[in-house]
Amino acid sequence: MSWLWGWEPRPMQPTKGIGTLAVHLDHSSDAATGAVVPSISLSTTFAQRSPGEFEYSRSSNPTRKLLENAIAKLEDGVHGLAFASGSAATSTICGLLEPGAHVLSVNDVYGGTKRYLSKVMGTRGVECTFTAMSKPEDLRALFKPNTRMVWIETPTNPTLAVVDIAAVSQLAHSIREDILVVTDNTFMTPYLQRPLTLGADIVTHSASKYLNGHCDVIMGLMATKDDALYERLVFLQNAIGAVPSPFDCYLTMRGLRTLHVRMDRHCANAMKVATFLSTHSAVEQVYYPGLPSHPSHAISVRQASGHGGIVSFRIRGGLAAVCKFSAACKVFTLAESLGGVESLVDVPAVMTHGAVAAEERAELGITDGFIRLSVGIEDAEDLISDLKQALYAVIQ
Ligand SMILES: Cc1ncc(COP(=O)(O)O)c(C=O)c1O
Repeated sequence: MSWLWGWEPRPMQPTKGIGTLAVHLDHSSDAATGAVVPSISLSTTFAQRSPGEFEYSRSSNPTRKLLENAIAKLEDGVHGLAFASGSAATSTICGLLEPGAHVLSVNDVYGGTKRYLSKVMGTRGVECTFTAMSKPEDLRALFKPNTRMVWIETPTNPTLAVVDIAAVSQLAHSIREDILVVTDNTFMTPYLQRPLTLGADIVTHSASKYLNGHCDVIMGLMATKDDALYERLVFLQNAIGAVPSPFDCYLTMRGLRTLHVRMDRHCANAMKVATFLSTHSAVEQVYYPGLPSHPSHAISVRQASGHGGIVSFRIRGGLAAVCKFSAACKVFTLAESLGGVESLVDVPAVMTHGAVAAEERAELGITDGFIRLSVGIEDAEDLISDLKQALYAVIQ
């Protein structure tokens, strides 16, 4: 309308989608040089304008601080902390526990976390109960008067069971307000799932996976909304000293800036791969929360905005078939780890979960024919034709 020419509506409050947040992770251009990418602070010590700023890089470092602020923002937390590995983050969280405490953990937790909780914390007077968490109502009976922590990992590694974070957090906090609910969000990342908004007290990551995303950094990241809890964690971070190098922090910041784009592609490819596998005669069972046939598909839809990039399946013919399959793969690489841009094949029974007792593996369904795929961001058609020819090699 002519009388409105030249008139611009008042801009709305800028919305910050997580993609915009990821790209602009708290860095403004360097005032001195104009550099858009913040420099790496390698110095171990800093001249102090006033006592108590950045005193020593184990306690705090400007490059690490950028990353810590970034994970806090992405996870909808207030405070972030970075560690030398996901396992270092786990051990620091366990440092909150006192002898005599009891932990309730999901049974299909990452093998290294299970090892730490049972073999390390077990010798320090901390008892742990491992249990399936797919039915939160069944958990009530497992809480003890000394339960101080609930450890969730969802989806679990490698059977991709889904835990209802909100239901378990609510139950734990209704039993005792100060029970800490910890959620390992490695498989989903804050782009898909934000445990702090669902009631968890601490969210932790092996940032060696999707957050860095390029298989070239070992790193742990953590976030919380709780000031007092943060003070206890930051004390332990400094006292234990398992902190990452500034260069690794820089690389992880770089990875975070493309998190949303990578995760969209991981999810889309994983869905295509899972759908393909579920129609193949050489495949006995497919595990992917995005498939409507997954027993907790509805929970995954409710608590996450995507189902992640990991697809597991059971192949007919056991270990012999698995060996033929992995040898025939040309685009997928047989390697441990996950969450990088490249597609990987893992055989948990003899690789990542080889240290888990055979009976325990059998109980979890991790049989010799069990395969975990970390679906990368290549072209889906190439991934599917690679799987097709590798499965053909099995049935030959
Ligand atoms: C779900 C999960 N949490 C924690 C870890 C431990 O992380 P890191 O290897 O960075 O120590 C891993 C490693 O594979 C993992 O898969």
